[in-house]
Amino acid sequence: MSAFGSVFMPEMAISWFDGSQWSDAEVVSSNSLQLHPGAHVLHYSSTCFEGLKAFRHADGSVKIFRMDKNIRRLAQSSELLALPAFDEAMLESMIRDIVTRFKDEVPAPPGSMYIRPTHIGTEPAVGKAAVPSLTSCLYVLLSPVGDYFTGGDKALRLLLDDEGMRCSPHMGVVKSGGNYASALQPIMKARAECQADQVLFCPGGDVQETGAANFLLIDGNEIITKALDSSFLHGVTRDSILTLARDMGMDVQERELTVEELLERSARPGCEAALSGTAAVLTSVGTLIHKGQEYSVGNGGVGETTLRLRRALNDIQWGKAPDTHGWLTSL
Ligand SMILES: Cc1ncc(COP(=O)(O)O)c(C=O)c1O
Repeated sequence: MSAFGSVFMPEMAISWFDGSQWSDAEVVSSNSLQLHPGAHVLHYSSTCFEGLKAFRHADGSVKIFRMDKNIRRLAQSSELLALPAFDEAMLESMIRDIVTRFKDEVPAPPGSMYIRPTHIGTEPAVGKAAVPSLTSCLYVLLSPVGDYFTGGDKALRLLLDDEGMRCSPHMGVVKSGGNYASALQPIMKARAECQADQVLFCPGGDVQETGAANFLLIDGNEIITKALDSSFLHGVTRDSILTLARDMGMDVQERELTVEELLERSARPGCEAALSGTAAVLTSVGTLIHKGQEYSVGNGGVGETTLRLRRALNDIQWGKAPDTHGWLTSL
């Protein structure tokens, strides 16, 4: 099977902002995009994107999961990057139109259609290091996907990095390319030196998130994760899992979590940890690596509560449980 996100539908939805107005959305080939080599995005990283999914239900219908939240987050990322504002209703109809066009290609569970709206600054102006791009381009790519972690249900190994940061603290809330690029070297180093799957960034001992997912500690009936601030991405999956955990009567704590508390709780029998994200869904963490020492989380395997929460989320996404929170949009 191809790597997650490496297969694309042949067409995408696109609209251009010329400095005063957005063009009517069009459907064009997704093989290429014409940009001036001096385009603002290629030099000053005026780029942001989203990741959401459409699911095929047993009755053949296709539903998009929490589209409104993802559109809102892209609008916020655009604002924080000083990209031109776009009409959220326009993006919604671009997403609906392109998913409808490729409705028959949406894989059945556990697969889905990954939707990648992207907004980039296009103005050809290499002198605009400290000035926003006046023009931009918004497009929506589609990629049919299976499971993100090919290891299946194997629990992940995380390196706790309490010195480095994933990105600049005021940029964590922005889903922007530069944040991912800045986390690559630490992740590559952790893979090479500790066979870690991911780095859990914990600057100054504050447990934040990994390179592409949020972190949750599940200790008995308690579920603990960092409270929202500007330093990390406000995951839609994180919000969904916490909502489902509250529905199940769990004690959800959004607060600071230190490396010290994490390691102390992890040693308790029955403790679990997990990563949440659109791609990862909810994946167990079995081992934490800190200052050269390895710590098992609970029994070091896949956690039962993690599986229960993951199933509760998947059941809604796949139409096997009622959508009590109104998270699904029909085409
Ligand atoms: C850095 C980072 N944190 C968290 C997440 C989780 O966000 P979401 O659940 O909205 O996919 C992502 C994206 O998947 C991410 O890239």
